[in-house]
Amino acid sequence: MERLQKVIANAGVTSRRKAEELILDGKVKVNGKVVTELGVKVDDSDAIVVNGKPLPKVDKKVYYLLNKPSGYICSLSDEKGRKVVTDLIEDKSIRVYPVGRLDYDTTGLLILTNDGDFANMLSHPSNNVEKLYRVTIDGLLTADEIYALKDGIDIDGVKVVPTRVKIKKRNLNKKTEIVEFGIVEGRNHIVKRVFDSINHPVLKLKRESYAFLNVNDLQIGQYRDLNPKEIKKLKELKKDTK
Ligand code: URA
Repeated sequence: MERLQKVIANAGVTSRRKAEELILDGKVKVNGKVVTELGVKVDDSDAIVVNGKPLPKVDKKVYYLLNKPSGYICSLSDEKGRKVVTDLIEDKSIRVYPVGRLDYDTTGLLILTNDGDFANMLSHPSNNVEKLYRVTIDGLLTADEIYALKDGIDIDGVKVVPTRVKIKKRNLNKKTEIVEFGIVEGRNHIVKRVFDSINHPVLKLKRESYAFLNVNDLQIGQYRDLNPKEIKKLKELKKDTK
């Protein structure tokens, strides 16, 4: 037996928080009856209807590694009609969702899955997975600014201490710079906020790696299945960070 909101989220229909709202709003029926409590537990034999639609049965777990192009948002749908990352996935019979978020204009490594537990585990703040970004910034960093970056920049009262800060390329004519920047945390727009705060706005952003994974073998917009070894290793990251 699982909690109703978890089952709805795992089916890829929406997030767990939104599922809770749907339940509280009386939009969810179990075996024909509206359920408005969050504690209800269900199993496979229960008929669940969300917003008038039967909840799809999920038995097969899928895990994709995508090289995200710019111009796609990490959401299941968009009010502004922009393209969403799941548009890039051919098999529409299994509803997947992104693990964490990359901005509309960010490219690079994104994991998509229909395994809610796996997604929650990877996105949990206690999970110290290193993400490496290739950041093109406006302006050239001074030695003091590099020192400040390495020391950690305060964003909303929480210091962002990078695992890596390395200048990869300087363009003295254009006055732009490419910086390799590693972090473990995953707050929204965090890399842009760090560089904005030292007055070097981000011009281009690519996530190059996530723990041991990279997208070097994938063209932009291409994806592949994660192999069982990779899935196992990702699941084991939780144990490593305790
Ligand atoms: N940090 C950002 O600012 N944007 C991203 O897309 C990812 C991390």
